[in-house]
Amino acid sequence: MNTPTPIAVKVDNVVKSFANGDSRTFALKGASLEARFGELLMIVGPSGCGKTTLLSVICGTLKFEEGDVAVFGHELRAMRNGDITRFRRENIGFIFQQFNLIPTLTAVENVSIPLILKGVSTAQAEKRACEVLEKVGLADKYKSYPSQLSGGQQQRVAISRALVHEPRLIICDEPTAALDSVSGHKTLELLQESAVRPDRCVIIVTHDSRIYEFADRIVQMDDGRVVGQFDDPSQLSHA
Ligand SMILES: Nc1ncnc2c1ncn2[C@@H]1O[C@H](COP(=O)(O)OP(=O)(O)OP(=O)(O)O)[C@@H](O)[C@H]1O
Ligand SMILES: [Mg+2]
Repeated sequence: MNTPTPIAVKVDNVVKSFANGDSRTFALKGASLEARFGELLMIVGPSGCGKTTLLSVICGTLKFEEGDVAVFGHELRAMRNGDITRFRRENIGFIFQQFNLIPTLTAVENVSIPLILKGVSTAQAEKRACEVLEKVGLADKYKSYPSQLSGGQQQRVAISRALVHEPRLIICDEPTAALDSVSGHKTLELLQESAVRPDRCVIIVTHDSRIYEFADRIVQMDDGRVVGQFDDPSQLSHA
């Protein structure tokens, strides 16, 4: 019997460039990493080194020129666009720096979106959304619009939206950058508590050294490549 692979996401020598007038900017120059099931992996590195590009490649929203990306054993290169979109909706939850909530929808409506996209009825989706919002301490804010919530509360709505359909991969791009240190800490506590599971994987891109302590492993990028790996976040304390 085959033992299941502990690798959730495998990025192998990926090259991605963007047209830039007459020249090309190489955002990824042979980036490789592995993210394991059950871990909270952080990706750090200077501005412009390719972190967001790498996340977009893993999500299948950006095509790449060379290399391979496999998510839960599915080679993205071999999948058609429609299949990648479906795969993403089923398997990936996103959390962004600016929360990306829809301003004209209430908290509960925002959180319902991933379920509605999967074909769940509005009534069922909203019931489930309320349950998740209650878990993150927002039971009294179901009907609030994003503009009526604090930054930390908006990020908790965004986390609820990322987790409501129980995705196996949670991708976060600078989730604490717009938060003060207390809210940033709470956001990571919540993610650790609700998203880190043996059958899941959480990947967080961050500049925020205050949250390194939550990482199981940190990979460091520079100039389009992964250049280092640390099991002990304190090894990066100088960063
Ligand atoms: N759509 C695009 N068109 C052209 N160039 C791009 C595009 N997206 C990214 N780049 C370039 O690719 C490089 C990597 O960008 P990326 O956004 O991945 O960096 P980053 O590490 O996320 O930086 P930051 O920490 O500032 O968010 C940069 O030089 C950027 O200018
Ligand atoms: Mg970025």
